[in-house]
Amino acid sequence: MTLAPSRQNKHLTFRANMGVGRHGWLRLTPAYSVGLVRDRVQALPPGSTILDPFSGTGTTPLAAAELGQTGIAVDVNPFLQWLGTAKFANYSDANLLAARAAVQRIVVDAKRLGNNHDLWTPNLFKIEKWWSESNLAVLRNVRAGIDAEPLGPTRDLLEVALCRVLIALSNAAFNHQSMSFKEGDASAFDDLQFARGLQTYEDAAHSIIESAALDLEGSARVLLGDSRALPEDIGLVDAVVTSPPYVNRMSYIRELRPYMYWTRHLDVATDASELDWRAIGGTWGTATSKLNSWRPSETGTPVDAEMDDVRRLIAANGSKSGPLLANYVGKYFHDMWDHFRSVSGHVRSGGTVSYIIGNSTFSGHIVPAEVWYGSMLEAAGFEQVKIEQIRKRNSNKALYEYDVTAIKP
Ligand SMILES: C[S@@+](CC[C@H](N)C(=O)[O-])C[C@H]1O[C@@H](n2cnc3c(N)ncnc32)[C@H](O)[C@@H]1O
Repeated sequence: MTLAPSRQNKHLTFRANMGVGRHGWLRLTPAYSVGLVRDRVQALPPGSTILDPFSGTGTTPLAAAELGQTGIAVDVNPFLQWLGTAKFANYSDANLLAARAAVQRIVVDAKRLGNNHDLWTPNLFKIEKWWSESNLAVLRNVRAGIDAEPLGPTRDLLEVALCRVLIALSNAAFNHQSMSFKEGDASAFDDLQFARGLQTYEDAAHSIIESAALDLEGSARVLLGDSRALPEDIGLVDAVVTSPPYVNRMSYIRELRPYMYWTRHLDVATDASELDWRAIGGTWGTATSKLNSWRPSETGTPVDAEMDDVRRLIAANGSKSGPLLANYVGKYFHDMWDHFRSVSGHVRSGGTVSYIIGNSTFSGHIVPAEVWYGSMLEAAGFEQVKIEQIRKRNSNKALYEYDVTAIKP
């Protein structure tokens, strides 16, 4: 058995591991670069409080806590709130020892359980497309083993490890923004595949437990909430460093479904589309039909004039989807306008904001999100707006990523 390193060693090892550690626990689709976030966090004076109103996998608050600052984040997705809370916790030596012992027990019990269809299985539509019979047995048995642990930090580590192997053991292939299934393999239970799957879990769990041994210098927490009306208890922060959803119709709920079902943050498909409707930029399931009847608010946004020109062009794109896409763009910027007004009340005088955002195109028409962000920030009470182009996004010549920064007077 390996023991947790001493406090001092923990610190040194942590420094050496700056590139990986907890950031590598679960790589969910669009997390922005740790390096970029660290640069922005490092530029802030010691003792700063940094807010990410769109937490995702918690890159910003984790980077803040690693660098000795205070991170605070908000996400609308309860699974991401749970994940962030697990990522930012400090684990005692007793927690780590208990977690290592639990992994051994889970593996032994899982072998004994074999292919047991009586165990709890998530209510995920067409689950047999996602996992082979053997890998489904691995996940089911590991889940049953985790359920025997009391709720708390030890169990969180075991569950993060379950999340880590979900996609590795699946038939799903994530290509850029979409997901497809590889040809499903064997529907028959295979001992060797089962043993390999279990080993994958064991390895993932040990690697997560090892990196959990390294304490964070600062602290971070993530609140469940809506960034269009931020929770009051955030108080005043020194900086906002974030990467909000892009205007690209990507659904985080759709992408995160397997994790949410296996961690019991989701049980019925209708809850997923309800949640997607609350998520900015979400368009999945019933969220799409609700978009059809969406209308701009009477007060509008400060960018309505420019936006309406672009929305008219998109609506008249000659296909049935035109009006829907125009509404998508309109609702996205209405939501972001609510957000900018809300966040303005939480940045102290002299505080800074940094929004990493990409532009997009709909039916060939550019949606200059970075410019409209800049205008909305000014209208929400920020000054010295700067738009810096960071990188080209893909082979599409028109698509770039920007850092939109501003200062609260
Ligand atoms: C681009 S991701 C953030 C990525 C993050 N910077 C990272 O590194 O993982 C956007 C996040 O915004 C969250 N989100 C969308 N709408 C929201 C809302 N209304 N309130 C709070 N969070 C929201 C989504 O759940 C998603 O996790």
